[in-house]
Amino acid sequence: MSGSTQQTGFATRAIHHGYDPLDHGGALVPPVYQTATFAFPTVEYGAACFAGEQAGHFYSRISNPTLNLLEARIASLENGEAALALASGMGAITSTFWTLLRPGDEVLLGKTLYGCTFAFLHHGIGEFGVKLKHVDMADLKAVEAAITPATRMIYFESPANPNMHLADIAGVAKIAHQHDALLVVDNTYCTPYLQRPLELGADLVVHSATKYLSGHGDITAGLVVGAKALVDRIRLEGLKDMTGAVMSPHDANLLMRGMKTLNLRMDRHCSNAQQLAEFLDKQAEVELLHFPGLPHFPQYQLAQRQMSQPGGMIAFELKGGIVAGRRFMNALQLFSRAVSLGDAESLAQHPASMTHSSYTPEERAHYGISEGLVRLSVGLEDIADLIADVQQALKASV
Ligand SMILES: Cc1ncc(COP(=O)(O)O)c(C=O)c1O
Repeated sequence: MSGSTQQTGFATRAIHHGYDPLDHGGALVPPVYQTATFAFPTVEYGAACFAGEQAGHFYSRISNPTLNLLEARIASLENGEAALALASGMGAITSTFWTLLRPGDEVLLGKTLYGCTFAFLHHGIGEFGVKLKHVDMADLKAVEAAITPATRMIYFESPANPNMHLADIAGVAKIAHQHDALLVVDNTYCTPYLQRPLELGADLVVHSATKYLSGHGDITAGLVVGAKALVDRIRLEGLKDMTGAVMSPHDANLLMRGMKTLNLRMDRHCSNAQQLAEFLDKQAEVELLHFPGLPHFPQYQLAQRQMSQPGGMIAFELKGGIVAGRRFMNALQLFSRAVSLGDAESLAQHPASMTHSSYTPEERAHYGISEGLVRLSVGLEDIADLIADVQQALKASV
């Protein structure tokens, strides 16, 4: 298979894109370039690399052949021009924000965001003169009302971590571009297999590739994908000079290995989550259930429009609130009590005391994260075993 696979299907590109074994001594699996620096044939060549006049690797914080292959592959899957690999999702997010924003700029943010993203915004860049405004990104009138000439960027997660609230990606993209603002979407929950924000008008996509993209819970990784001019700036400003959040070549290799089975894993995550959500929906102990694959999910129609499947994440609240939620979680035997998501193993966590403990209780109430919410990352195990575990834990919760 040649390295050029742009016309082929998603699964084929996830396995082959950008790599031809015959260019590498027949090695079926790409070699890992475990090197920090690169030798120059002459001083002039090295100087030309530094000046950007010569394409070549010179230091692995800026580029490395193993990372470049991963970048080509994720760019192909997201249908973007270029991509950048970073050490974590937070590395991707912070490198993007530090590059694209200046004091006095305004950012419109989704109402609910992952806890460390929220902390970075409110206790990091927000304290350096960037103005932050949270808006319900499914309400286009509210977005239109909030945008001003100072708005440089709109940023959200869809679905949002942890309450599954969706943003109308195409609708917000249109408004952003009418006002010369950039739209940046965190696509961690969906991956490009379920949703491609760039095709809906976003300018950049960011990922925590720690999650579904790598899929095995053994690395932290981040990615940025989009227009080459923007990605180049984030590489040369945010990554190189501001955060230094560089991915290791071994992690890039593990991430590419995980991505080869992305479509198979996502199909199973989604079908397990759908069946588990349908089970939970019928249980007397459950007060509120947030899952985009249920017809009573408030944004079911939007989910149908912009996501090919509902994903593998479920959030719910029990009638007994936080006390029942704790009892439920402590009774789980197959689900692990752990943060993160998108692994083969099913995970359960309590956002208010874990992933979203960087919000104050008042902030959680204001931004739509209830204290009793339980978040499940539905793994790849047999669905009958997952349902049996949840069923016995529900009984123990009352
Ligand atoms: C939606 C979302 N974005 C970003 C991140 C940050 O990613 P990382 O933990 O790889 O830094 C997370 C982590 O949980 C997340 O859930």
